[in-house]
Amino acid sequence: PLVTSKEMFEKAYNGGYAIGAFNVNNMEIVQGITEACQEEHAPVILQVSKGARAYANHTYLVKLVEAAVECCPDIPIVLHLDHGPDFETCKSCIDGGFTSVMIDASSKPFAENIEITKRVVEYAHDHGVVVEAELGTLAGIEDEVKVAAHEASYTRPEEVEEFVSKTGCDSLAIAIGTSHGAYKFKPEQCTRNEQGILVPPPLRFDVLKEVSRRLPGFPIVLHGSSSVPQEYVKMINDHGGRMPNAIGVPEEQLREAAKLSVCKINIDSDLRLAMTGTIRQFMEEHPDKFDPREYLKPARANIKELVRHKLVDVLGCAGKA
Ligand code: G3H
Ligand code: 13P
Ligand code: ZN
Repeated sequence: PLVTSKEMFEKAYNGGYAIGAFNVNNMEIVQGITEACQEEHAPVILQVSKGARAYANHTYLVKLVEAAVECCPDIPIVLHLDHGPDFETCKSCIDGGFTSVMIDASSKPFAENIEITKRVVEYAHDHGVVVEAELGTLAGIEDEVKVAAHEASYTRPEEVEEFVSKTGCDSLAIAIGTSHGAYKFKPEQCTRNEQGILVPPPLRFDVLKEVSRRLPGFPIVLHGSSSVPQEYVKMINDHGGRMPNAIGVPEEQLREAAKLSVCKINIDSDLRLAMTGTIRQFMEEHPDKFDPREYLKPARANIKELVRHKLVDVLGCAGKA
């Protein structure tokens, strides 16, 4: 069924696991994700960005998610707006069938972030919809907004109680060193292990723990949580792509965060890498083929296996539906 994340987050918080929030932009992505969740009995959040609505059209995305809800009767599914830029976009999704929205006013001054978030919460709660807000800024690219690494800032734990109590938001995204996209860390920030593989600096678990201490029982969200699987980076680079130094968040650290107060972990880039790597390889190996179903089928299958791996080995939410 289509649900809000309220009960999902309560169970995840108490059970020491997190729900996967995967970005959807087309039918194959929706199917790959939800087939894995149905088979693994995992609750799931399907999230739609402003860019996704511009690409695929709000109605198409809602209908695709409705189809997934019908085809996956055993699992709870949330339809969530990712990085809602303003009240109007949030309202349009609340009125248009979403069960959860994010208002991302994290780039605004503290007082303004509170004001905008509070307005969205009032409208959302009146319509049975839950709200995610954000404090702190992540580096990286989201929609057209690029945040340079030096402008990014960790969440200030001393602000979280006032923010949550004044806004009434239902979950809070925080910045502890993750970032959006496939280039999360510069090579010069990293060290090399014995195999010569780049190891990024660890996430700021001290910030996460201090936030959790101040907000007991409150669900925390991690954005920018792709791990940038090196087998897919290699598949892309081996078949005509060029993605040097693509680095993500180590999966062990996400597993650790999921055991703490992190109830929602956002993953988009890894799905893109799986899809693109698979299609690049197919195109190179089959220059004679031109039926889109022939390359979208293995792309969808690899998204499904990637999501299965996240559910079972990273998020810990398999079997929790
Ligand atoms: O936060 C960014 C997500 O990966 C969505 O990306 O805005 O390009 O759809 P997008
Ligand atoms: P990634 O780019 O790490 O997949 O992050 C996705 C995200 O945070 C969507 O809001
Ligand atoms: Zn994000």
